[in-house]
Amino acid sequence: MVVQVLSDAQRRRWDSSDDALFYAQPRFVQHLDDAFRQRLTQLYRERIPPEAEVLDLMSSWVSHLPEDVTYAGVIGHGLNEEELAANPRLQRHWVQNLNREQRLPLDDASIDATLIVAGWQYLQYPEAVAAELLRITRPKGQLIVAFSNRMFFTKAPQVWADGSDRDHLEIVARVLVAQGWPPPQIVAEATRASGWKGLLGGNGDPFFAVIARRPG
Ligand SMILES: C[S@@+](CC[C@H](N)C(=O)[O-])C[C@H]1O[C@@H](n2cnc3c(N)ncnc32)[C@H](O)[C@@H]1O
Repeated sequence: MVVQVLSDAQRRRWDSSDDALFYAQPRFVQHLDDAFRQRLTQLYRERIPPEAEVLDLMSSWVSHLPEDVTYAGVIGHGLNEEELAANPRLQRHWVQNLNREQRLPLDDASIDATLIVAGWQYLQYPEAVAAELLRITRPKGQLIVAFSNRMFFTKAPQVWADGSDRDHLEIVARVLVAQGWPPPQIVAEATRASGWKGLLGGNGDPFFAVIARRPG
């Protein structure tokens, strides 16, 4: 059963047109800077064992997994077929608009680690997605939701567009716990920019992650 956390107003967005239109053209760009991506890849290296069946939900042409680690499997999901087809980490993928349909075409307890990078902020029905993720995750499997402080503002529901970084961490955790996930671990860190900016003490994109583990 899905436990609702957000109000209707919190789900509304400036741009309510079909997300498929917004993502119709591939974007072969990095959405997060080098510093964020390095921190994310390090986290994956520490947390995801090679024997894991991995799902990169809300993916693109990059998955940020360590290049030298081979996993049992990596499945991708997103909204743009061309981006997903160009992602070298994915063994298979599918396209699905999660704001239209939240049921995932995956078996119960079939995934060890689900990754969502800079994606949760576009979910209008995160409760139903979180419930589905609990269903498909194996006992002791994990969910890693990572994000920074950027977004396509018009496409983010009001709960995200109007929230602070702290609000974002809190709402992801609250939605997960409401669906039966145990209280997640929170990571909130500054990063050091790469190159000259970093040498001069400049920061990169801030790094936030909510990490939940299904009980064994
Ligand atoms: C900023 S991109 C991040 C892509 C990728 N995770 C990365 O790290 O580069 C946001 C992604 O969220 C996904 N997304 C956004 N709205 C979506 C929706 N309604 N249904 C499914 N996926 C969506 C798309 O896959 C899109 O590429």
